[in-house]
Amino acid sequence: MTVGGRPPGKGPGKGKDSKGGRKRTGALAGSGSREASVRVHTARGRSTSSARWLQRQLNDPYVAEARRLGYRSRSAFKLIELDRRFHLLQRGMRVLDLGAAPGGWTQVAVAAGAATVVALDRSEIEPIGGAVILTRDIDDSDTPRLVTEALGGLADVVLSDMAPAATGHSPTDHLRIVALCESALALAETVLAPGGAFVAKVLQGGTEGQLLAHLKLRFASVRHAKPPASRSESAEMYVVATGFRPPVD
Ligand SMILES: C[S@@+](CC[C@H](N)C(=O)[O-])C[C@H]1O[C@@H](n2cnc3c(N)ncnc32)[C@H](O)[C@@H]1O
Repeated sequence: MTVGGRPPGKGPGKGKDSKGGRKRTGALAGSGSREASVRVHTARGRSTSSARWLQRQLNDPYVAEARRLGYRSRSAFKLIELDRRFHLLQRGMRVLDLGAAPGGWTQVAVAAGAATVVALDRSEIEPIGGAVILTRDIDDSDTPRLVTEALGGLADVVLSDMAPAATGHSPTDHLRIVALCESALALAETVLAPGGAFVAKVLQGGTEGQLLAHLKLRFASVRHAKPPASRSESAEMYVVATGFRPPVD
């Protein structure tokens, strides 16, 4: 099942026709959400960068749509768009969502009818009906055991939207995101069912060489995508690997 039509708790998410708005190609194409521009002035005590952030939030149609549909993050639309393209989520699946806070991707997986959704983050996540929440770092020693117990069987899809706190020093940020991706893949390899899918956030330029070679060994198909909801100025993109081939003993 392709998701996007059933948001968490606020009726059917079908958009209306856009009335003269900017043409969009992503989950908001034709949603008709308002795009009036809001200007934020730098008030006393507010830095230029926080004013810029606030202005971007106020003018971001994905932020408005997430609020309207009850999603906890605009990131939810990235998974909706990836799912529309790659058909990742289906009713009855077991899904592991890594780096899940505040919970947008988890909400999308639950809304898609996944039977089991395990959401892990080192930050706390408010409860989400239909999901098991684990407050753990991916690299904690008990994470694999807790995830395996919570899933209750092999996972059909492992999602990772994990991102390190940006340092602003791009080589450092790059190394950190590669390390998170490696941790996500190592965990995925212990919990994925044969034929399962793995999605992880990487940086522009694609997956780092060694990691990509490993993915190609373990998955029948490895592709990269930048969903329309991912901001164009952001270096993030996603690697989507399908058809998991577990190692033969
Ligand atoms: C972009 S946010 C995820 C947004 C989420 N997909 C959503 O839709 O709401 C990235 C998350 O990765 C988490 N993260 C970063 N490093 C982590 C780690 N080592 N272990 C677990 N979570 C981590 C952060 O705490 C943060 O919540």
